[in-house]
Amino acid sequence: MKDISIEGCPVVGTGTFGKVYRLNDEIVVKVYDDPENLPLIKAEQEMSKRAFVKGIPTAIPFGTARVGGTYGSLFELLDARNCNDFLIAHPEKTDSIIAEYAGLVRRIHTIKSEPREFPDTRKVYLDYLACMKDLMPGEIYSRLADFVSAVPESQYLTHGDIQMKNIMLSNGEMLLIDMNTMSAGDSAFEFAGLYRTYIAFNVYDPDNSKNFFGISRELAGKIYYKTAELCGVDPQRRDILILGWLRYLHVITIELSQPDAFMVKPTLETLRRLLDDEGIH
Ligand SMILES: Nc1ncnc2c1ncn2[C@@H]1O[C@H](COP(=O)(O)OP(=O)(O)O)[C@@H](O)[C@H]1O
Ligand SMILES: [Mg+2]
Repeated sequence: MKDISIEGCPVVGTGTFGKVYRLNDEIVVKVYDDPENLPLIKAEQEMSKRAFVKGIPTAIPFGTARVGGTYGSLFELLDARNCNDFLIAHPEKTDSIIAEYAGLVRRIHTIKSEPREFPDTRKVYLDYLACMKDLMPGEIYSRLADFVSAVPESQYLTHGDIQMKNIMLSNGEMLLIDMNTMSAGDSAFEFAGLYRTYIAFNVYDPDNSKNFFGISRELAGKIYYKTAELCGVDPQRRDILILGWLRYLHVITIELSQPDAFMVKPTLETLRRLLDDEGIH
């Protein structure tokens, strides 16, 4: 693996696990703070490669590198800014940006994968659930596992985290980045990811969208509801809500390492209520 230095390189973006630096005129490096994330970086490169080969508009992945005491993922530098920043800079274009964005969300779900080309999203969610086994009563665990397993199989692609910071706008074209969670599955999983990001995160942390996206809670809600509507999806569908809260629970407890956070209990209650309504006993 090559060694690179990011000394003096400008930061072009910040994400969940670290920062993205402009290495030169052609390449950025997404540096992960924790070297333990190497498997994640490798998976991200692999998924990006497969997505690129599939014709999904994205930054070309160039492999991994050692960056000081940690690792980074190399990509083509996009002459672009993310859709979230564009939305903030052009509030008057909110409706047309959301309409175009919804078009991209729809388009991703028309791309069919080959068998075993991408992971099965149901399996990805079952893995999320397995990490949280000790955090919930066994009965809720098995009901959630049955629920996820019963989602219909689909070979159509799901990005998994298609929020606007993961869309780049380049010369009027929308490109998709941050491919770690690319998988093959029902579009309910995509809307669950969006519900998690734009709705669930604000429930116990009302300033979440303000702090993470720099947008109001109202605008976050509008992005979710309008996108679902334009994609012909009921934004309150129970399967989406169940999968969305499950995804939320995994982020706060496992990815953000807060298994004792105060939101865990009410989230489990919400999941139980939704499962009861669904008639899955
Ligand atoms: N190839 C790229 N070219 C230019 N900017 C990028 C590129 N990749 C990422 N960025 C910027 O960095 C931000 C974070 O990158 P992302 O891959 O989404 O990281 P994370 O997985 O941490 O969310 C993006 O929102 C974008 O602004
Ligand atoms: Mg991202």
